[in-house]
Amino acid sequence: MSNRQDLPEAMAPPDEITSYYAAPSRRHGAARSLFNRFARHYDLINHIFSLGSGAWYRRTCLRQAGVGPGAVVVDMAVGTGLLARQAQLLMQGRGTLVGVDLSEAMLDRAQKILCIPLLQATAEAVPLADGIADFVTMGYALRHLSDIGQALNESLRLLRPGGKLVLLEISAPSHPVVKFVAAAFVGGVLPTVSALAARNRQAKALMDYHWRTIAAYAPPEAVLNSMRHAGFQNATCASELDFFRFYTGQKPLLDHR
Ligand SMILES: C[S@@+](CC[C@H](N)C(=O)[O-])C[C@H]1O[C@@H](n2cnc3c(N)ncnc32)[C@H](O)[C@@H]1O
Repeated sequence: MSNRQDLPEAMAPPDEITSYYAAPSRRHGAARSLFNRFARHYDLINHIFSLGSGAWYRRTCLRQAGVGPGAVVVDMAVGTGLLARQAQLLMQGRGTLVGVDLSEAMLDRAQKILCIPLLQATAEAVPLADGIADFVTMGYALRHLSDIGQALNESLRLLRPGGKLVLLEISAPSHPVVKFVAAAFVGGVLPTVSALAARNRQAKALMDYHWRTIAAYAPPEAVLNSMRHAGFQNATCASELDFFRFYTGQKPLLDHR
């Protein structure tokens, strides 16, 4: 594991996650059990949360990053396969796509829609060889990781020189008024709508959890600093609605470290 003191202070897991996930040593187990419980509601809730634009947004970001036919892509925290599915469409049947996740229930669902190798492992320790990937991708999982620095180190290790890291994440709007509106909608209205749509009160708990971790999560500049700190070049963040963040970074062509 990386030395947590090496990480920019803002990238330590937020208190909100700490309280959800108990002691740091138990966070992987807690995240696994949380997503195992919610796997069957995930796609529906995601659809509601993104107002139906989730597939389009994921595909647009992947396309902008350069994912296309012939690419080798490792999708970390693949979940039910929502991001991987879009990569697969862009790859048009050519290339290699591998999914990694710690939750067996999420992987079970991914298996139903994707015909790709799926590995049950953490993003902090991926059982794949060095330098194999043109792209390492991760959709909406930064907030759930136990050790972000270690996951970034693993991403760098998996990438070939010049390969790209693509991260999608949500973080609270910087403008107080927009943040207030987002809190009311995402933290108030959506959990109730999700529970009604899924006909399950646990769906509300998942949405509550989402908003609390979003609200507490590090701002984009802290994520970018962590990427640079791990050794990524040309780290960038594009934002939609001051809410959806699309990060990219590149593994240097030459290893200067
Ligand atoms: C919000 S879902 C995102 C799924 C998918 N990437 C998407 O775009 O919809 C977060 C996923 O991260 C996984 N996860 C959480 N912590 C993880 C870790 N340390 N290593 C690997 N997967 C992790 C969860 O099991 C869950 O499937």
